[in-house]
Amino acid sequence: MTARILDGKSIAKGLRATLCEEVRQRLALGLRAPGLAVILIGNDPASLVYVKAKRRDCEEVGFHSAAYHFEEAITQAELEKLLDELNADPQIHGILVQTPLPAHINSDAIIERIDPLKDVDGFHPYNIGRLAVRRPALRSCTPLGVMQLLDHTGVAIRGLDATVIGASNHLGRPMGLELLLAGCTVTTAHKFSRNTRAVVQRADIVVSAVGKPGLVSGEWIKPGAIVIDVGITRAANGKLHGDVQFEAASERASWITPVPGGVGPMTVISLLQNTLTAARWADAR
Ligand code: GUN
Repeated sequence: MTARILDGKSIAKGLRATLCEEVRQRLALGLRAPGLAVILIGNDPASLVYVKAKRRDCEEVGFHSAAYHFEEAITQAELEKLLDELNADPQIHGILVQTPLPAHINSDAIIERIDPLKDVDGFHPYNIGRLAVRRPALRSCTPLGVMQLLDHTGVAIRGLDATVIGASNHLGRPMGLELLLAGCTVTTAHKFSRNTRAVVQRADIVVSAVGKPGLVSGEWIKPGAIVIDVGITRAANGKLHGDVQFEAASERASWITPVPGGVGPMTVISLLQNTLTAARWADAR
């Protein structure tokens, strides 16, 4: 078997056109453009690239975007004061604080300072909790993007065995909750797992979110499985690598995401969709 490519770039493009139209309709009704505030601290090269992409996409679909870029030395209190202001700002419907944050900043306290109804990253414990009790509100962007990719395959995933590799707060955990909500039998492998290979071998859906190139061997993939590679690591030569051995896995999978151009564009489109959702809630408040 040779896998079909789950082309996140082109799927996101289609979803972006829908968003553009929805924004146009809002403006025609005299409603505000959805507004996203993006906060970046320091000069981490990967974060600079992500933030630039998020702002560009925002502007492309007609959103209002506000960018804040601070020196590493910003204090917890200064950051919290800005979040309080943005929480109260009617032009801003979504707030994103790019991670990782400098070591002197308490990231948990920052995430919890964001109004859960403006937490378009879906990182706030309120939003993770809502997903856990099957009443999703703002859903974490990458897992939501992955669910949209799975939807695109047309495969009925209820009842399938899904293995998620990685148990981080931002990726692995909400990913497992999304798949559970969709009716999958979910296994999460993590750094203490004794036999990741075995739980991958039995999976109809594999989602790897670790950030270790080559972690998932192509031979581990069950024939016909759907393989989603969330990992993204930049090599010294600048090339981007996923967690999955792409060529070998493609021989066995039914569908597979490339890196880059698979999950990444879906994360950004999910962020914009969440911002539009938050704007609609603000209309109704
Ligand atoms: N750092 C890397 N990806 C993300 C993301 O999706 N959201 C935030 N806030 N920080 C990130």
